Amino acid sequence: MTSELSLEGRVAVVTGGSRGIGRAVAVALAGAGARVCVTARDPGAVRETVAALTKSGAEATGLAGSVADPAHLWELTERALDAYGRLDILVNNAATNEPYGPLMEADPEAWRAAFTVNVEAPLRLVQCAWRAWMSEHGGAVVNICTEGAGHVGPRVGAYGTSKAALLHLTQQLAGELAPSVRVNSVSPGLVRTEMARFVWEHAEESVARGLPLGRIGEPEDVARAVRWLVSDEAAWVTGADLLVDGGTRVRAASPGLTDAVHQQLRHRLPDTR
Ligand SMILES: NC(=O)c1ccc[n+]([C@@H]2O[C@H](COP(=O)([O-])OP(=O)(O)OC[C@H]3O[C@@H](n4cnc5c(N)ncnc54)[C@H](OP(=O)(O)O)[C@@H]3O)[C@@H](O)[C@H]2O)c1
Repeated sequence: MTSELSLEGRVAVVTGGSRGIGRAVAVALAGAGARVCVTARDPGAVRETVAALTKSGAEATGLAGSVADPAHLWELTERALDAYGRLDILVNNAATNEPYGPLMEADPEAWRAAFTVNVEAPLRLVQCAWRAWMSEHGGAVVNICTEGAGHVGPRVGAYGTSKAALLHLTQQLAGELAPSVRVNSVSPGLVRTEMARFVWEHAEESVARGLPLGRIGEPEDVARAVRWLVSDEAAWVTGADLLVDGGTRVRAASPGLTDAVHQQLRHRLPDTR
């Protein structure tokens, strides 16, 4: 690993770090030398993730709680600072894809809850990190958005609108916090995780056939992009949105490719139902 890619000596907080993309990010950052602090709601999953990271030779800690709880975000920041004395990297990854369905049927309370997790929590956590460490010492933030934030799709109106807001928030923060803190986003296409299981599980082959790069994403595809963005290799990159989508966005220029993801979104429901 080049010295610019190394995260030796740095400390990272990863929300939603117990599975899927967040866990792959925690593993990738730890693999590059960072000490990592993860959060998720399920305490057992947080404990298991910390144990696995530690077993692989990394320094890791964790705190269970919801990012929707402002007190948890302060406690998380304090946990990283108490454990390691600094906080250089923040990855806002935890999110919800509820309420799922037509917007005319969306429960305003569920809509508000989605914005609390997907938009308000990332801002609050950046504020915590800024006040506690980054305003004085600098840092790098990555917000996990979605390829879908750039266009509309069936039954994902609340999710897409909140992620479009997160994309805008990323760019606004990038301008406001420069030059000491870089703020970027990564926008994945369809990735093999629990959140998206209802989309890929019954249609992986057709979805893969419809993608220019011929397969759905793995959490590690996204994690490598995050690792690069928070490293010194990306020292002159801020306010950027890095698409990691197997070519989803450029599908229209590929002869004969159709959108099997939208077919799944129309006909299937998230596993939480
Ligand atoms: N998978 C895809 O195809 C895809 C595509 C585009 C964008 N994304 C984005 O990628 C990110 C990660 O998604 P994923 O697919 O990896 O999801 P996932 O496999 O369902 O993992 C979500 C993680 O977030 C945690 N989490 C959920 N709600 C939380 C809350 N309120 N507070 C704290 N932690 C919470 C979960 O643990 P607990 O349940 O224990 O809290 C888990 O660790 C999300 O921002 C998502 O929008 C995913």
